[in-house]
Amino acid sequence: MTKLSPLITEQHKRERESMASNKLKLEGKVAIITGGASGIGETTTRLFAAHGASVVIADINDSLGHLVAASISPPGRCSFIHCDVRNELHLAAAVDHAITTYGRLDILFSNAGVAGPLTGILDLDPAGLDHTLAVHVRGTSLAIKHAGQAMAAAGTRGSIICMASVSGIQGGFAPVAYMTAKHAVLGLAKAAAAELGGKGVRVNCVSPYLLATPLTCGAYGIDGAKLEEISSAGAILKGTVLRADDVATAVLFLASDDSAFISGHNLVIDGGVTVVNTTLPKFV
Ligand SMILES: NC(=O)c1ccc[n+]([C@@H]2O[C@H](COP(=O)([O-])OP(=O)(O)OC[C@H]3O[C@@H](n4cnc5c(N)ncnc54)[C@H](O)[C@@H]3O)[C@@H](O)[C@H]2O)c1
Repeated sequence: MTKLSPLITEQHKRERESMASNKLKLEGKVAIITGGASGIGETTTRLFAAHGASVVIADINDSLGHLVAASISPPGRCSFIHCDVRNELHLAAAVDHAITTYGRLDILFSNAGVAGPLTGILDLDPAGLDHTLAVHVRGTSLAIKHAGQAMAAAGTRGSIICMASVSGIQGGFAPVAYMTAKHAVLGLAKAAAAELGGKGVRVNCVSPYLLATPLTCGAYGIDGAKLEEISSAGAILKGTVLRADDVATAVLFLASDDSAFISGHNLVIDGGVTVVNTTLPKFV
């Protein structure tokens, strides 16, 4: 029999056992989800809770945040804290809240986001650019800082997932401020993965293609059905449409021990859009 390295600890063994089973993926784990009151964040909150995690929703939307938290069972499994991710004190308080309420912190999903100004570079409003960068880049940086500190201090082999986008990979998907912010999030996650790997903390990104949420429908002033029509028309993969639960499932994979050796990765959820040429004639 192959002799196993002593680096394979009991925790590693449990991680590997979990990969092969269908059991709850996050049993006993504690997660913070920024922007967890709506859209992809809300769907992920529900999926994490269904997989046994205790979840803290950290969001500026107090009414929705409380509603979502109260709708998750068993009572107390999910709680809401008002948190503007641009404010470092709010993020520190969200981490403290998770540890005080649930005893630990295993997972951060830094997901809060805004569409930003819908202009190109020639008409760019500097205040709109600052706001977009503050929410996506400053917010994600500070969220990683405080969650990473807590995980490192407790010796928790945590998982941090950052919300990027296909707009962080290729031009033409979104306005300039949003694209700039999402490119920065991808760089930030790589830097954090390099630094936190030594502490046993993994850092990854998810990059979805266009899907119908309050963010996209609100920004473009169209309903969900129309947005899905546009999304499907541009998709390479036909016969399906990207929904928030597709993204949440990918986030669950990165949050769980199923991805125990994956760090610094950008999991693209785009049905092939960013890797298929659509400008030149098809050869096959
Ligand atoms: N919908 C898409 O097509 C798509 C595609 C790729 C990436 N994304 C990203 O997914 C993430 C979630 O967006 P969504 O589409 O679910 O939209 P959404 O509007 O439904 O959710 C965004 C959430 O972020 C919260 N938020 C906004 N500013 C905040 C702040 N300063 N502090 C704390 N919370 C704040 C909002 O209150 C809301 O609950 C965003 O980062 C977005 O850029 C969305």
